[in-house]
Amino acid sequence: MTGPTSTSSELPVRVALGTRPLGLFESLAAARRNIVEIIPEVATRQPVVSGKTGTRWHMVMDPGALRRVLVERLDDYPKSDVTKSLLRPAIGESLFIAEGAHWRWQRRAAAPAFSHRNVTSLAPVMTEAAERAAHRIGAAAGRRAGNAYDEMVAATFDVISTVTFADGEGFDRAAVHAAIDAYVTESGKISFLDVIGAPDWVPRPGRVAFDPATRDMKAMADRVVAAREARGPSSTPDLLDLLRAGEDAETGRRMSDAELRDNLLTFIVAGHETTALTLAWSLYLCAFDRRVQARAQEEAAAVLGARAAGAADVERLPYIRQICEEALRLYPPAAVFSRTAQVEDRLCGREIRPGDTVMIPAYALHRHRLLWEAPDAFRPERFADRKAIRRFSYLPFGDGPRICIGASFAIQEAVIILATLLARFRFTPVAGRDPRPVMILTLRPEGGVWLEAEPLA
Ligand code: HEM
Repeated sequence: MTGPTSTSSELPVRVALGTRPLGLFESLAAARRNIVEIIPEVATRQPVVSGKTGTRWHMVMDPGALRRVLVERLDDYPKSDVTKSLLRPAIGESLFIAEGAHWRWQRRAAAPAFSHRNVTSLAPVMTEAAERAAHRIGAAAGRRAGNAYDEMVAATFDVISTVTFADGEGFDRAAVHAAIDAYVTESGKISFLDVIGAPDWVPRPGRVAFDPATRDMKAMADRVVAAREARGPSSTPDLLDLLRAGEDAETGRRMSDAELRDNLLTFIVAGHETTALTLAWSLYLCAFDRRVQARAQEEAAAVLGARAAGAADVERLPYIRQICEEALRLYPPAAVFSRTAQVEDRLCGREIRPGDTVMIPAYALHRHRLLWEAPDAFRPERFADRKAIRRFSYLPFGDGPRICIGASFAIQEAVIILATLLARFRFTPVAGRDPRPVMILTLRPEGGVWLEAEPLA
């Protein structure tokens, strides 16, 4: 293997994990390049791997231990200090990072917005975004190859900004998009250093809390919340209306304006790029494996004909869904997430002390030799029978009470957009331009996903 990623004619791109323990300086260098490179290869064979680079850390890949961390001992393993200090400047004490009672009530207040009924009612926005993406790709097809990742980022931002701020007066989509992008890139650099517990003398990139782009983004969201307060709900309720209406069933409490703003920004930060990545990696994989693509095209064409997919089609597109699920296994957008232990414990016989970082490296878990057959191969059919997938061996959305609140929203969106595109185009990879999986907060295809799109009709 020559570089940090490898390709062969049979396997899609992957990160070549290290085969020997890294010292502090090597970890720092690896983390600056790509945080996934700090995962040692043995994490795909062992239940737990521990180390100390500044702070003590443990990577946990054992389904039983993961159940303990994510379900049974929730309060003993809150979200890690790193996650919190990283995200707090942008999204405050919102649902994503709050703990205890403050988390619980926000989760109860937000839950109705993500009910099956509401997610289904938001589908037309996804269908329109799929139609627009197909139009853009169709207009460029035949003239040049395009970067499917950029297209998918545009499509999912279309969706999330429409469903969060419907008609958003005073909301400049392009500016918010640019601010989030800058934030993720800057804060991603900081998190590498913090996750591995780099000592304080290692220079960090400038803290982003006072970044003008972040400030503007919050100010814009504030204006949208205030405008909605003044004029009342939209005719078709969007996420902001649903959150404003949500109340804690136990206490009757509703969200304050600042809480509404922080949660809206949370949905945008947590929900937009992750879904774009699912789609971009799915398209990469379909182009990589023509046989899979042909089968998906057949399914999409049979169900959709010439129209774009809608909510009612999703359950009739099982193979397209399996492709999205397999893309989330091979390239989980949240490739590593973490907790900070509060009490002494044992995980797989390993001693855990208060303050230790417990990492959940979904990237390694999803390619674990003991849990998956041919773990590096692209085989969407493995998701044909969901009961055959062992719980806690597949965690693209986390698990337990803190499981992603937007999971069914994301899957519905990904299936609608992917099916619409596959019914209309054949995608072919551009030789020599394979993407490289690199984790900057999320697992991104560095270099883009370059594909040629050939109209089918
Ligand atoms: C494919 C797309 C997505 C992926 C891979 C993803 C992944 C995740 C993961 C792994 C977690 C748990 C993190 C942890 O336990 O530390 C999470 C939580 C969360 N996600 Fe997602 N997510 C996606 C889409 C969305 C969408 C569309 C939304 C909202 C519109 C969203 C909002 C949230 C929120 C609010 C939480 C925190 C929930 C809580 O702590 O109660 N996500 N997501």
